Amino acid sequence: MMFRPKIVGFLCNWSLPQEVNTTGTGIIQGYPKIRIVRVMCIGRIDPVIVLETFVKGADGVLVIGCHPPDCHYIEGNLQAERKIKMLKKLISRTGLEPERLRLDWAYASETELFATIIDDFRTQVAVLGPSPLAGKKPDENVLAGIMAAKAVTGDSRLRTLVGREKELIEEGNVYNEKVEQEEFDEVMNESIDEEYVRSRIRLLVKDRPMSVEGLARHLGLDPKKVLRHIVVLRHRGLVALDKIEREDPLYIALEVT
Ligand code: FES
Repeated sequence: MMFRPKIVGFLCNWSLPQEVNTTGTGIIQGYPKIRIVRVMCIGRIDPVIVLETFVKGADGVLVIGCHPPDCHYIEGNLQAERKIKMLKKLISRTGLEPERLRLDWAYASETELFATIIDDFRTQVAVLGPSPLAGKKPDENVLAGIMAAKAVTGDSRLRTLVGREKELIEEGNVYNEKVEQEEFDEVMNESIDEEYVRSRIRLLVKDRPMSVEGLARHLGLDPKKVLRHIVVLRHRGLVALDKIEREDPLYIALEVT
């Protein structure tokens, strides 16, 4: 039997075709089956909710908002676009396919387009197969990655970068210097990489102290890089030296959310 992916759609209230009645079940009657969450504007969707939806076993997450530049809340759709761009980059570090997340646009009057978007996405996810997080035995590595990614979405530096992307590129920084898109993407990718590894380290040393070598082996990284992250995490007061074992310093997390 063909695999039927579980899709969760976060749909803007103003993009939903007018004749659609979700009958209180979260399923749109007469459309390809997806479970929907109606939101007033997709700009309000917190990235952590999207990641949590994957943790709960969704094979794919579809976000549909109003076509830019139209949005009832000025630029909610463009804010969502930037968040999802960042989220896809972050997800790609975890081992989960970023193609399981898609953002698209539709007006409430575009009923055919609406159905096509859902159909296309279902086919795309069906080709990918079941999510490694779905089912009774989720892939532990991917799950660890997604849990680390969830913590990264709360990082203030990353949130600031996402929130200021348009301003930095179109208007410039405090010195009126405009940032090139390429330059911005580089900074963003670097920040995602760094914060993701730090988040993995924090989760690994949450319950048991580990050495730099042990962490490096577990993460497949150069111990020098791990040591640099430990220094930053200690400086932020998130990791501390726990004890020395056979001349090896072991580190423990001080606070993990
Ligand atoms: Fe529809 Fe903002 S109101 S995306």
